[in-house]
Amino acid sequence: MCGIIGFTGRLQVADILIGGLERLEYRGYDSAGIAVRQNDATKIIKTTGKVAELRKKASETDDIEGTCGIGHTRWATHGGVTDINAHPHVAGKVTLIHNGIIENYKELSAALKDKGYTAVSETDTEVAAMLIDSLYDGDPFKALKEADQQLAGAYGFCIMFEDRPGEIYCMRNASPLVAVSTDDGAFIASDMVALLPYSKDYFVVPEEHIVVMTPDGIKLYTMDQEEVAPKMLHVDWDTTAAQKGGYDFFMQKEIFEQPEALKNTVMPRLHNGRADFSADNISDDIFKDINRVVVTACGTAMHAGLVGRHLIESMLRIPVTVELSSEFRYMNPILDDHTLVIVVTQSGETADSLAALRLANERGAKTISIVNVKGSSIARESDYVLYTHAGPEIAVASTKAFSVQCAGMYLIALKLAEINNMMTAEEMAAYCDAFQAAIDTVAPVLEMDEQIKGIAEKIKDTFSAFYLGRSLDYAIACEGSLKLKEISYVNSEAYSAGELKHGTISLVTEGVPIIAIATQENVLPKLMANVEEVKARGAHVIMVTDKDMSSYEGIYDDLIQVPNVDDRFGTFGVTVALQLLAYHVTVFRGYDVDQPRNLAKSVTVE
Ligand code: F6R
Repeated sequence: MCGIIGFTGRLQVADILIGGLERLEYRGYDSAGIAVRQNDATKIIKTTGKVAELRKKASETDDIEGTCGIGHTRWATHGGVTDINAHPHVAGKVTLIHNGIIENYKELSAALKDKGYTAVSETDTEVAAMLIDSLYDGDPFKALKEADQQLAGAYGFCIMFEDRPGEIYCMRNASPLVAVSTDDGAFIASDMVALLPYSKDYFVVPEEHIVVMTPDGIKLYTMDQEEVAPKMLHVDWDTTAAQKGGYDFFMQKEIFEQPEALKNTVMPRLHNGRADFSADNISDDIFKDINRVVVTACGTAMHAGLVGRHLIESMLRIPVTVELSSEFRYMNPILDDHTLVIVVTQSGETADSLAALRLANERGAKTISIVNVKGSSIARESDYVLYTHAGPEIAVASTKAFSVQCAGMYLIALKLAEINNMMTAEEMAAYCDAFQAAIDTVAPVLEMDEQIKGIAEKIKDTFSAFYLGRSLDYAIACEGSLKLKEISYVNSEAYSAGELKHGTISLVTEGVPIIAIATQENVLPKLMANVEEVKARGAHVIMVTDKDMSSYEGIYDDLIQVPNVDDRFGTFGVTVALQLLAYHVTVFRGYDVDQPRNLAKSVTVE
């Protein structure tokens, strides 16, 4: 949410900033801007719209030479989408970009008004710029430390001071920042995707620290100006990971990357019929003495939690609840040292999930997170982390991250079973075989792309759609429905199939698409009875299943038949089919698949 980049060094900065913002655009695409430090002035170019607009505007601007600058792509929080509200913002000697929300900006703004400051924008960010300027007397450390004490909320700032050419100062609270130092100069960004062309070695800026960037490198200080050594990390994503590589959209590419992502996440951790977390340094102790599991996450990641709940409860008989992170912290949850809290997150930076994790830690629960981004806040603050190896996910709609999150849940379930003697060695070996076999069905489902595209074309003009499933298939239906609605804007809802006739069936009229998911043999007859009910009311039924449907012919209009797997692992193939369906419907409707309206990836504000 909001992309940030900064550079100072020996290269022209404008291209570095705009290129970085293009790679970061998935974090927000309402407006974009750069500030380039020149001899004794700072040139600012900003515009509403996508980074392409900014690139165009920059190409029409004379003299944007300079080797120090900051850039921002915005997802609006406070203040509408206007050129003036776009970052960077300037107040006195301060030019600043910001990712996050300043919660006390109204109070601060009133006090700053008394000191003679007048805002030109409607943003909380400009208030932060004014505050820092009001505290600046030539000593950036003093100003930033005092600002940090006065600001409430989440922020990642990059700041240039008028009287300190060539220098960039950064600090953060909650909102992420990563830094890279190379022979060409110093880089900072809100995530590593922006910096992949320059380095794979980086450090995460710790909270309550100040980063000073000069052309000679980066230094990290405590708030009291003591220099500290940053903890270096290495990312194994290659530069092509952030390129479309011949696909029309990142989402399409990421759907097709799933066999690899699953293989990389699962195979190193299945050894001799058991889950092996030794390379992850996850102690067995965390799985011992557990009487309940709480999964907390947002959006798609929460749906992976629903898959996990079904599996762990039905197979291991351990009670599991799945809580939306945004609700969890306000419900005074019952947690103790016999509770295993699993936080599921692609970015590792989702503000609500981070807050939920902090609460779980505070209350003494055991915490483990399933995270895709190395070194992210949630990964660092959990007792243990099980990294998924999906590579960077650029499309706003999550696809490959969901599949590997589910895989993470399946791995944790196996580990819980082993540590608590809940399965025999034979059962565990059979589970591993079935798991692997299910993953192997993803590639054949991808080969069904053309057929699924044909079905998508039939429903492309619909206003609404419903996804139905029972037990595990309800979790899959929730994810399939979210995928369709968030990118195609079809009014789509997921229902537990048996629940539909308790109200919502009144919305089923002639031709309304019903996507029915059937991977669970034990509820198949019941599900198909519900399908008959909607068919009788004129629905256009699309069955997505790994089961033999020959005895149900005539009840459905279209069939997406994925390879058959063990019922416990029904998730993988069917999910991929539903992702392709959502993708193709959206392409037919002519929308930007990767950047749906109003959304942004990595929701770092609550
Ligand atoms: C939907 C989607 C979101 C995210 C959610 C959590 O396609 O991507 O619902 O799943 O914002 O994000 P992470 O996993 O980064 O915590």
